[in-house]
Amino acid sequence: MPVDEERRKAIAVAAAVGGVGVVAAAVPFVASFAPSERAKAAGAPVELDLSAIGPGELKTFEWRGLPVWVLRRTPEMLQSIKKVDGEVADPKSVRTQYPTPEYARNEFRSIKPEYLVAVGICTHLGCSPTGPFPGGVNAQLGNAQGFVCPCHGSTFDLAGRVFKNKPAPDNLPVPPHKYVSDTVVLVGDDSKA
Ligand code: FES
Repeated sequence: MPVDEERRKAIAVAAAVGGVGVVAAAVPFVASFAPSERAKAAGAPVELDLSAIGPGELKTFEWRGLPVWVLRRTPEMLQSIKKVDGEVADPKSVRTQYPTPEYARNEFRSIKPEYLVAVGICTHLGCSPTGPFPGGVNAQLGNAQGFVCPCHGSTFDLAGRVFKNKPAPDNLPVPPHKYVSDTVVLVGDDSKA
């Protein structure tokens, strides 16, 4: 993948915690030094083993200091996503503030519908949403299933799509990733073999 493309993706994800301006301004400075081995390791892709995640479970991994969620969605959970198509702000993930990779620009925002891979950082001010909640137990979600950001009340469905009229400007970021086997995902690298 061209360097510029990789950098753009890294910034889009890092912007979820750092603010676009700050990160973009830092890039020319950082790029002028050879990165240390430690820095390289900190930015390296990580392999996530999905085999121990049960149906309906969410597991959190770490990549570049960010929490990466993997939610194994049941058929019923996938149905809950279809039901709220008209209630989310950007159902097809076409907004560009935190661009969704092309291979996840679909209703379930994923390569395989069963697994959501997303950065668990709210696109409003960077809090970590809680969940997943089933329908009918959380006042902010109502009957919908999903996640709730405790700071200012943004809500997201089980595809990480933000509901309408919430402070978060975009869906939860989907990091660059690819499957290297049926149950192992590489996060931080979506280059084709
Ligand atoms: S940080 Fe999530 S709603 Fe404000």
